[in-house]
Amino acid sequence: MRLKSVIAAAALMMPAAAMAWPWSTDMMNQPNIKPQEGEMIPFPERSIPVGGIPTQVADREAAKPMKNPIEATPKSIAQGRTLFKIYCAACHGLTGAGDSPVSGKIGAIALNDSYVQENLTEGWVWGTITFGSYVMPAYGVPQGKRGSNDLNVEERWHVVNYVKHGLMKDHAAATRTAAAE
Ligand code: HEC
Repeated sequence: MRLKSVIAAAALMMPAAAMAWPWSTDMMNQPNIKPQEGEMIPFPERSIPVGGIPTQVADREAAKPMKNPIEATPKSIAQGRTLFKIYCAACHGLTGAGDSPVSGKIGAIALNDSYVQENLTEGWVWGTITFGSYVMPAYGVPQGKRGSNDLNVEERWHVVNYVKHGLMKDHAAATRTAAAE
């Protein structure tokens, strides 16, 4: 009787234990490259982007005259806003006013002033995101060079659309809310 209940208890524990067997992850451990692991396989020589947006730009200077190929639709701006909050807000502030806790410490500039809004071209902003700046990290550029490739070409243009066509409105709304409180 006692032995039986021990076996029953052991059987009950089996499904949980089975999850931890060494072979439980066999299907996952295949000879492939996992996200954020190893080197990216280089694209075949002379490949071109399907969307027709150039991905090979030498540096920020070369990106300066580039035209934004993605229209600043509400959808694109919304996507840019989401990405901005994830990738840029930590340093530049939630609405780009340079008011995040670390902004002052690293010298992250406000993006809602006329220097960025009027002087910098959309191509230059895209280039800044792609190649980084002096302190600012790079979100594009393929393996082998400095950069993370965290944002793909289109995503970077969505962020540009937000910086140039959505950020000021968000900043004004945030200021109004703060004043009303
Ligand atoms: C780790 C902090 C950090 C993050 C994250 C960051 N930036 Fe910056 N950014 C800076 C700093 C610091 C400067 C000013 C010094 C410099 O140019 O490096 C700057 C400068 C800029 C400039 C002005 C470039 C110029 O020519 O003067 C733009 C535009 C900009 N950032 C946009 C962005 C966008 C868009 C993102 C998100 C994709 C982002 N930044 C993420 C720190 C950051």
